[in-house]
Amino acid sequence: MGLLASVRQVRRNVLNILPAISYTQPIVTGNTGPARWHMVQGPEGMRQVFLDNVDNYPKSEVMIRMLRPAVGASLFTSEGAAWRWQRRAIAPVFAARNVRALAPMMTRTAERAAERLAAGPGRSEMVREMLSATFDVICDVALSGREHFDADRYGAAITRYFLTVGRASLLDFLELPPWVPRPGELLGRGAVRTMHAMVARAIAARQAEGSSGVEDLLDYMLRAEDPETGRRMTRQDLLHNMQFFIVAGHETTALALAWALLLLAHDGDAQDRARHEAQAVLGLRPAGADDLPQMPFIEAVLDETMRLYPPVGLLARNVLAPDRIYDREIGTRETVFLNIYALHRHRLYWDDPDAFLPERFLPEAKAARDRYLHLPFGAGPRICVGANFAMMQAGIILATLLARFRFAPAGPPPSPVMHMTVRPDPGVDLAVTALDLA
Ligand code: HEM
Repeated sequence: MGLLASVRQVRRNVLNILPAISYTQPIVTGNTGPARWHMVQGPEGMRQVFLDNVDNYPKSEVMIRMLRPAVGASLFTSEGAAWRWQRRAIAPVFAARNVRALAPMMTRTAERAAERLAAGPGRSEMVREMLSATFDVICDVALSGREHFDADRYGAAITRYFLTVGRASLLDFLELPPWVPRPGELLGRGAVRTMHAMVARAIAARQAEGSSGVEDLLDYMLRAEDPETGRRMTRQDLLHNMQFFIVAGHETTALALAWALLLLAHDGDAQDRARHEAQAVLGLRPAGADDLPQMPFIEAVLDETMRLYPPVGLLARNVLAPDRIYDREIGTRETVFLNIYALHRHRLYWDDPDAFLPERFLPEAKAARDRYLHLPFGAGPRICVGANFAMMQAGIILATLLARFRFAPAGPPPSPVMHMTVRPDPGVDLAVTALDLA
């Protein structure tokens, strides 16, 4: 595809530019205008970039430039020493013990989501419903006590941000210098200002007033420190990282949930099996952290959903020094795309790759598989720090809803569209029937 055709397709849907052979080859190399790129979608290549030679493949400057206005030099957008100390300080914030302590807030949110569906018209658009449920979680868990935080205004600002800054800018592909303002950035600046002001106010208030008693993510972050150097976060570091948790933490998880409900709506047997499992464990209660280990099928549904529709489907990396991946010479200044979407539907590595078969992820089958074949959370030292948090909130919400409602398709199936995340277009319209649990 020529440069302009590629740019047009990227703006519409990144999935349109994945070449057909990326589903049958472990690596594909091409040129777009003057730029040479490689798409990696084999497990050995993934391991090389994510783990074995990770220092050679920093995050792409284009991606960082897109995110910096909103999340500054946060954990996600930093490299080298600036990343290392933040990772050492933030990893313990998401330790299993801390995430478990946040579970009761997730359970209350799942209960509220169920109440909203029960009061609804019997038909709902599930992306919107799940975004509101996971946004609810992150607002409670990240910044509990909403008096400094207007969730509706913040939500509207996020939407504005994704529609403008969050799209790869045409100019990024034409490789103009970074100081030339991109059209999206100009439009998105107001949205970023709104979000920053609200999170900054919540942080300042917490620093002044102390914890309300029930500890949340912000309390953990205020105490976080690098165990090697004792370095603590400045207000700016806190602002940028909390901002990232709020934006990234809720959108990705909501998409996983909406896709899961869609797949289950089209597969009555899998839905019944998941529901029986949830009802047997929960009875009339909403799900909590202790219930999840007893619901392996629910976890398998989430794993299989994120195989077919990984919320983060493509990552981009720069190349510092020449390397070889499979039979390909990789040059400096070229771009490596980690094509998670194609890895997950690859003809060489999966039987019946496009079919929804949650059994693939029941514990025995999962343990027998190469770990680098299923990478919704990435891998290696930069693996998603919030993976436990995401799996817990998704499991709690999914199990609670399945125990109480039946979901059926209420419109044609949507298509996946990838920009920063993989979204269903136009949405997930489902008929929702409350079950008689008496
Ligand atoms: C289903 C939900 C989620 C998915 C699919 C997801 C996916 C990912 C992926 C693929 C990466 C690696 C990016 C790379 O290597 O370039 C990542 C990193 C990260 N994620 Fe998540 N994520 C999810 C939820 C969350 C949540 C809930 C949080 C926090 C509350 C979070 C915080 C982060 C952070 C801070 C990083 C950067 C880690 C580092 O660079 O050291 N994510 N995520």
